[in-house]
Amino acid sequence: MSRLKRADRPYDIVLFGATGFVGTLTAEYLAAHAPDDLSWAVAGRSEEKLERLRERLGEKVGVLRADVSDPASLRALAEHARVVATTVGPYVSYGEELVAACADTGADYLDLTGEPEFVDLMYVRHDARARETGARLLHACGFDSVPHDLGVFFTVRQLPEDVPLTVDGFVSVDAAFSGGTFASALGQFARGRQMLAAARERGRHEPRLMGRRAAAPVGAPRFAPEVGAWALPLPTIDPQIVLRSARALPRYGPDFRYRHYAAVRRLPVAVGGVAAVGTLAAAAQLPPARRWLSDRLKPGEGPSAQKRARSWFSVRFVGEGGGRRVYTEVAGGDPGYDETAKMFAEAALALACDDLPPTAGQVTTAAAMGEALTGRLTRAGVGFRVAARR
Ligand SMILES: NC(=O)c1ccc[n+]([C@@H]2O[C@H](COP(=O)([O-])OP(=O)(O)OC[C@H]3O[C@@H](n4cnc5c(N)ncnc54)[C@H](OP(=O)(O)O)[C@@H]3O)[C@@H](O)[C@H]2O)c1
Repeated sequence: MSRLKRADRPYDIVLFGATGFVGTLTAEYLAAHAPDDLSWAVAGRSEEKLERLRERLGEKVGVLRADVSDPASLRALAEHARVVATTVGPYVSYGEELVAACADTGADYLDLTGEPEFVDLMYVRHDARARETGARLLHACGFDSVPHDLGVFFTVRQLPEDVPLTVDGFVSVDAAFSGGTFASALGQFARGRQMLAAARERGRHEPRLMGRRAAAPVGAPRFAPEVGAWALPLPTIDPQIVLRSARALPRYGPDFRYRHYAAVRRLPVAVGGVAAVGTLAAAAQLPPARRWLSDRLKPGEGPSAQKRARSWFSVRFVGEGGGRRVYTEVAGGDPGYDETAKMFAEAALALACDDLPPTAGQVTTAAAMGEALTGRLTRAGVGFRVAARR
């Protein structure tokens, strides 16, 4: 549970960006699933949109106005909450002041970023202050990177202790994305140099792991008979998050290695996917092409409820160590929005309500709440299972 007591702050949870696409889904999830005695509020920049949202959610929900361009409003927001959950991205453009305010006031913080540059800079600039105040700073609490982080946590726990472990993750999805996600992805493609610089800066600050080893090397493209699919290395934020969990948790053993892949059944689809991502990444380097692309899908827009109902994800893991091999899977519905809102809301509820291991500073979901969040998500319909051998 948050170190702050309930009486310390007016709200247990404040959801910032509640009027956006994922924000609204998260607010609806909280309205349907939060315990009756939880006090929570929606926050955003438009009073009118917030009031309209509150009318749908019910009178019990509070409303706070805050704008990224007004740091005092973000400070006030952090001072009103034990847990602050924010969907206001791209985080590298909009996110830092709120992380700083939470670290400084001791409020727990969680977001939906998939931007490694942002996470590395927040570590360098705010981890130390958060450790002093006891604030827990959790990034990537949606499809990036919860199923991968908790899937590896779940897989490791099926394997023997105190032996070298290797885990490979294979991601399959069928889904569409929203304007907010598209804007964040385009922004990231255009910031390769800044991303590398932030990673180097983090490397200079982060203490070395003593007496154990953990690595997340980029695998080679290959046909993977263990999952019956083509495996393409997937350089998202997920393997970085898994690696940080492995560094934080001795249960991952003395020598841990994780490789992260997209799994694609047919070779032409794999080749087409790589070409499409390459073209998008190249176009994002040119400002006019980037502007044209971002006009295709506007912020606030996203896949319809019907499209989301047909969407799914599956992440299969193959873990090995101490002479054992296990096959596991984490699976669910629409990854980017319905399941992201569920993962995000349940992570916020875990911070606010559950008895969690003592952590502070920048932490991952596995390290801060691995068992509690796996239990919550299982009860909410996300499948965590040990699979039979293929
Ligand atoms: N980890 C994952 O798997 C995952 C999945 C989905 C989304 N995401 C990320 O989540 C973020 C949100 O996505 P989305 O699709 O929900 O985007 P969105 O619909 O565009 O929502 C963005 C929210 O930010 C608010 N906002 C923008 N500028 C603001 C400002 N100056 N002050 C206060 N609030 C401001 C917007 O307020 P208004 O309503 O007033 O415009 C809106 O509530 C993106 O960064 C996306 O990449 C991650």
